[in-house]
Amino acid sequence: MNEHKTQPTEAMFSAIAARYDRCNHLFSLGIDRIWRKRLAQAIALTADESALDICCGTGDMAFALLKYSPVRQVVGIDCSERMIQLAQEKRMLKTPRRWMKDKELRLRVDDAAALRFEDTSFDAATCAFGLRNIPDRAAVFDQMIRALNPGGRIGICEFSLPRRPLLRNVYWAYVSQVMPFLGRVVVGNAEPLRYLARSIHHWHTHVRLEEELAAAGFIEIRPTPLTGGIATLTTAQKPQ
Ligand SMILES: C[S@@+](CC[C@H](N)C(=O)[O-])C[C@H]1O[C@@H](n2cnc3c(N)ncnc32)[C@H](O)[C@@H]1O
Repeated sequence: MNEHKTQPTEAMFSAIAARYDRCNHLFSLGIDRIWRKRLAQAIALTADESALDICCGTGDMAFALLKYSPVRQVVGIDCSERMIQLAQEKRMLKTPRRWMKDKELRLRVDDAAALRFEDTSFDAATCAFGLRNIPDRAAVFDQMIRALNPGGRIGICEFSLPRRPLLRNVYWAYVSQVMPFLGRVVVGNAEPLRYLARSIHHWHTHVRLEEELAAAGFIEIRPTPLTGGIATLTTAQKPQ
């Protein structure tokens, strides 16, 4: 793995890993679970397919794929060793669940921009709330398209800002003011929430995801706003 490149991100996410899930569900009022379910349903994996979940963090997107589809195998990768450890602990807890039966979840440390998988290894690839943190997205898309079978699907879920001005203003006040305040009160540190607000703003103002996916060779690129545009689910396909 290219430790030099992922080191700052790895350090930041490892530092917040233990509180990550709690903050996620608390600050999104639990809606993050619904967004991952929507992504899993949009990808519509069948029983003979396998999927790669990049930036898997503590594993919630990988678990959503296993829970909401009959998929055979999911592989989750993340550059943070601590996140992967937590995902492994969660896997132990979830193994008895009915929806985990006869399915395989593999988890490993890897860099999404330099994946250590053979070409054409997966039928689908997902990324939930991870791309915002990676400056070299072109490298990530090259890796995703390389690792997919012809016709393979991708699904990306990212935060966005609502189009409607009133909702956007209210939501932006929540993200940029209320969340850092709650971060200080609830977890004793406002900085990760300030980072979240900065990264959402940067994503909204600078990143043209659909154009980047088209430049990487993906087709059938379809964005769908979720919860009034607070998040956007984008699906696309590798040509046959
Ligand atoms: C906001 S979390 C999202 C976690 C999870 N997908 C979810 O839905 O909750 C972003 C994750 O991306 C990981 N990450 C950031 N840059 C990465 C890279 N270059 N390669 C792999 N993982 C990366 C971080 O370690 C972190 O766990």
